[in-house]
Amino acid sequence: MHGLLGVLFLVIILIFVLTASSTDDEESFSWDLQNLQRFVKCRDKHYEGTKEFYFNYWVLKNYIRAEHGPLSCFSNVTYTTHADYRYLDNLVPLLERWRSPLSLALYAPGADFQPTLDSILWLRQCHPGSHLVRELTSFHFYFDVNHLPQVVPRSKVALRKEVNCSAPPPYKNVKMDQMYRGQKRLDYPVNIGRNLARFASLTHFVLASDIELYPTPGLVPNYLKFYSRKVLGKHGIVSLSRLVHVLRIFEVQANETIPKTKPELQRMFRSGAAVLFHINICADCHRGPLLEEWMNETVKSQDLNVFNVAHRTQPYNTWEPIFIGTVDDPPYDERLSWEGQRDKMTQAYAMCVLGYEFHILDNAFLVHKPGIKRGRPHMGFFQAQRTDTLINRKILRELHVMYGSRSGCLI
Ligand SMILES: *[C@@H]1O[C@H](CO)[C@@H](O)[C@H](O)[C@H]1NC(C)=O
Ligand SMILES: *[C@@H]1O[C@H](CO)[C@@H](O)[C@H](O)[C@H]1NC(C)=O
Ligand SMILES: *[C@@H]1O[C@H](CO)[C@@H](O)[C@H](O)[C@H]1NC(C)=O
Ligand SMILES: *[C@@H]1O[C@H](CO)[C@@H](O)[C@H](O)[C@H]1NC(C)=O
Repeated sequence: MHGLLGVLFLVIILIFVLTASSTDDEESFSWDLQNLQRFVKCRDKHYEGTKEFYFNYWVLKNYIRAEHGPLSCFSNVTYTTHADYRYLDNLVPLLERWRSPLSLALYAPGADFQPTLDSILWLRQCHPGSHLVRELTSFHFYFDVNHLPQVVPRSKVALRKEVNCSAPPPYKNVKMDQMYRGQKRLDYPVNIGRNLARFASLTHFVLASDIELYPTPGLVPNYLKFYSRKVLGKHGIVSLSRLVHVLRIFEVQANETIPKTKPELQRMFRSGAAVLFHINICADCHRGPLLEEWMNETVKSQDLNVFNVAHRTQPYNTWEPIFIGTVDDPPYDERLSWEGQRDKMTQAYAMCVLGYEFHILDNAFLVHKPGIKRGRPHMGFFQAQRTDTLINRKILRELHVMYGSRSGCLI
């Protein structure tokens, strides 16, 4: 009898300790949020759908909204990205890891509009992860004024349509030459999409990334905690605006699963199952300083820290880091297309001149959807020439006027 009472007593104590520690965590997180609210300079945005005319494009911002509703601007991080509907198979695997707001700009000219919309409806109605899509994803559409869809239903009407869940997803196995975009040989206006997705973010902090790059799970709560405890207070408010947090990027073999933690990544890196992103295409674009040291470092907890601080000056002027920054970072140049390449270089140059610090995080990273790229994807020769001419003759001069210059900053 006494034994039983003793056990009961222990169990009660254990329950008490467990619940006390979990409320402790919640309390300290709410302290972090208060801290962020006090020091992060941002303004909440209305969450509404708009139709806008923008630089030869029609833009349907928040055409399909996430069910999370309005957000406090300091309280979360938004993954901002762009795609055409062929890439929508990445959405759920990405959300399963990210579990936070996602702002996605879709290029949907002409007859690509309907399958794009149907793909979204399929994801929202049929996919086993449909709840994540509905809860977290805001979809924006854009298309050239000269390539309008036949009809653009109001989003309420569009959402009422029921799709056939027994049919395969409309984004599956679509080839470029089946698409309107392929048939009309339209270049992909990547930077319109990047700017649109970022501009539509309800939160101040954004991870502007590629839809095929999946982050480590738990990144957003870990980042907000890190920012509240280790970044605020350490840097003045002024320098905070010139500081971003870099995530290193890796690829894994096609038959491997994506590592969830740094120790897993380190094991896979040593065995060759994981490699640096684009190692066969442009290793310099992604290595950045101190990769080997970063790989050797043993992490002891889930917490984030800065491993090293980098600048985008020589010899790292071809580095294309992906980072958690803010909606106030310099925009992407909307005249540059995907096919023309160098599409992120002008933003990087502006950040270099402005003296941005790139703080590389020790314990968070991105991994590309499995499969190691061997060669460059098909790029347009003429578009690349046009981009070079545009940058050399026009954009460089503009950047000097708008941002000034600084030694070591190259485009
Ligand atoms: C739904 O799709 C399946 C598989 O493609 C097909 O067999 C079925 O006829 C479709 N149902 C309707 C109502 O269209
Ligand atoms: C961010 O927002 C999403 C959607 O509302 C929510 O599920 C998640 O818990 C939020 N993250 C944090 C750290 O509050
Ligand atoms: C993937 O393939 C490689 C080479 O064929 C093999 O060495 C490795 O064990 C495979 N990995 C898994 C997880 O099956
Ligand atoms: C990383 O660790 C390996 C094995 O311990 C060692 O040989 C190598 O020198 C280390 N590299 C760096 C850059 O620290």
